[in-house]
Amino acid sequence: MADYLLLKQTISALVKGEADVISLMATLACEIHNADDRFHWTGFYRVVAPELMKIGPYQGGHGCLVIPFSRGVCGAAARLNETQLVDDVEEFEGHIACSSSTRSELVIPISDALGNVIGVLDIDSDLPCAFTQVDADELKAILTETFGTLNS
Ligand code: SME
Repeated sequence: MADYLLLKQTISALVKGEADVISLMATLACEIHNADDRFHWTGFYRVVAPELMKIGPYQGGHGCLVIPFSRGVCGAAARLNETQLVDDVEEFEGHIACSSSTRSELVIPISDALGNVIGVLDIDSDLPCAFTQVDADELKAILTETFGTLNS
């Protein structure tokens, strides 16, 4: 399990005073990815048009470039504005397989200060049932602290 207290402190120190969304996403992708061996792909999809996301900063192998709100685990998280904790991607109807080795996923929506969904954080693992509610809650707190005050 990642040391979430350390991760939170490191991220807050690194991003202090920064308001550029891509710079923030790049820094978080790097720090989160390297904080836990269970995380095999860690990155962001950004809302770029109504109901449409494009890939943002990430760590790991290549990801799909475009994800509509109607598709995949990422689309569900953005459309419903609800975290998706998927123990087995094969059981998730419409899962988009960017990598055939992915077995489980955690996708958390990101809102700005106005409550608009601006994107999602997607973490994929090659291990089944890799994620817990603690991961979901701790990472959501980091995203809220980082992006929740932005007026985008
Ligand atoms: N598996 C995701 C797509 C993104 S990639 O795995 C990087 C999904 O179904 O939303």
